[in-house]
Amino acid sequence: MQDLNKIVIAIDGHSSCGKSTLAKDLAKELGYIYIDTGAMYRAITLFFLDKEIDYSRPEFCNVALKQIEISFKNVGGENLVCLNGEIVEDQIRTSRVANDVSEVAALASVRDFLKLQQQQMGKDKGIVMDGRDIGSVIFPHAELKFFVTASLSVRARRRFDELIGKGSEVSLTDVSKNLKKRDTIDSTRAVAPLIKAEDAVEIDNSNLNKEEQLELALGFAKSRLKHAITI
Ligand code: DC
Repeated sequence: MQDLNKIVIAIDGHSSCGKSTLAKDLAKELGYIYIDTGAMYRAITLFFLDKEIDYSRPEFCNVALKQIEISFKNVGGENLVCLNGEIVEDQIRTSRVANDVSEVAALASVRDFLKLQQQQMGKDKGIVMDGRDIGSVIFPHAELKFFVTASLSVRARRRFDELIGKGSEVSLTDVSKNLKKRDTIDSTRAVAPLIKAEDAVEIDNSNLNKEEQLELALGFAKSRLKHAITI
């Protein structure tokens, strides 16, 4: 029997808009599982780069995908992405991976490879999943969908601060250029482009802090849960 305290929460939005922070915080508050689908695309990109796969060639890409297993390992309450059993959280957050990931995520074979896996993860509900096509393609019937936005300058500054904090040597201009490039590829690709699902709640967090954003989203989640219990 379905647990009425569990729904699927889909969160989509542009790069570095704070959706992962929101997804993680919401999952923690509700006792749900959090899945970062961007990390799955990044792990595949890491494999392609490390093995020097010419992923623009479908035949090479398909052979390589057969050698990839993506999973998550819970360490200290956090779900860390694994590539063929090895935790690769740090390796997937580098600019090397960031520079190629949108092109990899635009490939139909890569998206097909991850789609079923992501849908399977949500079959028992009680999940918060973030990405670009979660509310539109992966869980079109999710009980609650958010579309998170923030201005490009706010997003670039947040990403820049994060990278500098990790010791990377980057410039704000380069970070902003990379975000803009990824926004364009993610929104204009032929397969599962980033779009706001019609029934998604839009949250522009340009002027919200982490706590204000969570409070706003929790309000929606609680009202959907109440609705799920009373119908
Ligand atoms: O959220 P992120 O920046 O870690 O995502 C990395 C890339 O993967 C980004 O270019 C968009 C793409 N992506 C996607 O196409 N679909 C998803 N569900 C998640 C991420």
